[in-house]
Amino acid sequence: MTANLDVKSGRGDYRTIVGPGGLERLGEILNGENLALPRSIVTDTTVGPLHGRKLAAALGLDLLELPGGETNKTWATVERTCRHWLGNGLDRGGSALAIGGGIITDTVGFAAATYLRGIAWIAAPTTLLGMVDAAVGGKTGVNLPEGKNLVGAFWPPRLVIADTNTLSTLPARELRAGLAEVVKAAWINDRSLLDLAPEAIEMGYDSMSPQAWEALVARSVAIKAEVVAEDEREAGRRKALNLGHTMGHALEAATRYERFLHGEAVAWGLEAAAILGRRHGLLSADGEKELRTASRKLGERPGIADLDAGAVCSYIAVDKKRDADGIAWVLPTDDGVVLDQRVETAEAVEVLRELQKG
Ligand code: GLY
Repeated sequence: MTANLDVKSGRGDYRTIVGPGGLERLGEILNGENLALPRSIVTDTTVGPLHGRKLAAALGLDLLELPGGETNKTWATVERTCRHWLGNGLDRGGSALAIGGGIITDTVGFAAATYLRGIAWIAAPTTLLGMVDAAVGGKTGVNLPEGKNLVGAFWPPRLVIADTNTLSTLPARELRAGLAEVVKAAWINDRSLLDLAPEAIEMGYDSMSPQAWEALVARSVAIKAEVVAEDEREAGRRKALNLGHTMGHALEAATRYERFLHGEAVAWGLEAAAILGRRHGLLSADGEKELRTASRKLGERPGIADLDAGAVCSYIAVDKKRDADGIAWVLPTDDGVVLDQRVETAEAVEVLRELQKG
C-alpha cells in the first residue's frame, strides 16, 4: 500500500509518496512521475551505509556522504555539497536526491536552491521528522550560530519519497523526536493524531503495523500539504506550523545545536506555548494540561534545568518571525492556534523558568 499526496506549489506541484519500499522502487517511481534519474545522491554518514550506498551502486550514481547532526547544518556543508557537484559535472539539467532526515533535506535542498542558481531535487526522508514535516513544504536552509534556519530559501523538491520501511532502522530517540511534530500537527488540525503519537512510542516501530505507520505519516503530510497549499510562503496560515518552534529554536541555538534533536526542542517549545496560551487567556487550564501531557508522553528528552533562561530567550530576538512590532508567537487555543501573538521577552523568560521547575 502507498498513499500519494499532491502538494500544491507556486514553483510546480509535486507528489509525496508515502509507503513501504519506495527507495527500492526508485527507478520505477521516477519513471511513473516522468522524472529523470538524479545525477547525485547526497546523504549523511549514518544513512549512507543503511540506504544511500546500496542505491548509488544499484543505479550507478555519484554519492556524497556528509557529516550528520544539527551542528553540520551550515554554510560550510552547503559549500562542500556544491563543490562536490561541480567537481562531478552536475549541470543545470541534472538533479540531486537527498536521502536522510530533516537536516539533510534542509541542507541539500538549500544547496539545490543556490547551485547554478537552482537545480531540481528529490527528497527521500528517512526519519519520521523528515517525513511528517521537513521534506514537505519547500522550506530549505541552514543554521547560523545566532539562530536556527536563519538562511534559506523556499525551494520545493520535484518529488518526495517517504519510504516508511526506513523507519525500522531509526533509533527510538529519533522516533520520539519526530512524534513531537505529529503532536504539533494534531493540535493544529486533527486531535485524533494526539492519541496515536504516544501509542506509537509505547508500541515501538516493530509492534506497530506498516499500515499504521503509513497512515500516521500520510495523515501528518496531508495536514501539512493542506496548509502549504493555502500559504506556501508563510504570509499567514503556514505560521501555524511554527507552534512550539519559537522557544524550541531558541533552546537549540542556546545549546549550540548540540543538546537537542529538533523534535525534542519542539516538545519543550510546545509546553512553553501551552503555558503562554493559558497565561494569555487563549487556552483553558484543561487545554494546557492536555497539550503538555501529550508532549510529556513523548518520553525522555534532554533537560533544560541547568540553562540560563535569560540567555536562552535572547535567541528569540533574532527569530524569523520578528517584525517591527516584535516577535510574533503562535499560541495554542482549545481548538487550534492563534497567529501573531505578542510576547515580551521578559514573559518568555518567566515561562521558561516555570518550565524548568517541572
Ligand atoms: N516546519 C514548519 C514549516 O514547514 O512551515
